[in-house]
Amino acid sequence: MLDASLILQLIAAILLPLRQRATLTAVGQDDVPQDDALQDVVAQEAARVLALLNPLPALTGSFPRSEHPSTRHLESAFASGDSATAALLATIRPVVFHLPWRYSYAKRSDAQGLEDNMAFAEIIGPEAPYVSERVCLGLTLIGPNTFYPPHLHPAIELYYVVAGEATWTANGVSIRNPPGAFILHGSQVVHAMRTHQQPLLAVYTWSGDDIRTTSAYTKLGKA
Ligand SMILES: [Fe+2]
Repeated sequence: MLDASLILQLIAAILLPLRQRATLTAVGQDDVPQDDALQDVVAQEAARVLALLNPLPALTGSFPRSEHPSTRHLESAFASGDSATAALLATIRPVVFHLPWRYSYAKRSDAQGLEDNMAFAEIIGPEAPYVSERVCLGLTLIGPNTFYPPHLHPAIELYYVVAGEATWTANGVSIRNPPGAFILHGSQVVHAMRTHQQPLLAVYTWSGDDIRTTSAYTKLGKA
């Protein structure tokens, strides 16, 4: 039986980089460079998520061992870690096979095998072991050389890369993000992801007025 205190340690470790990002000095002046302005939007979202998780919701579920096929990528994901996120990876490792990994979307003929190469482990959320109707928090795992097709959802989404790299595409811009990077998607913004030689392990959060409506795929190439 998994010691629940290990999950609490994991949640605290996940929230630490959000806390560090949220406390960056607010900008907002007209002469602030665009990159800094974007960073500030990330800081605001991190602060919002932290506020929604205070107090932490109650634990009502459990953490049995996962049998999801995507977990075969976890060992190489840990091997592709980075000093920027080493402490968080060390906290994830003891519990990672007991997280609620699942892929909940319908199979796609144009993205064959995605259901075996990608999974989400939602720790906090409407259907997660820690039940919240206000915010989702979990991990995303995507196998190597995998394309997560363009999709959108009402929730505001914040990613934090923990291991591996992936190229995110949104609004016609593609950026390859390493461990330690934050990526923000506004509500209903179409976005896609592509991994490279290593699997990707990333933290995600969802917030906003509707965190229950799941992703809707759009046509390939629209992102
Ligand atoms: Fe998304």
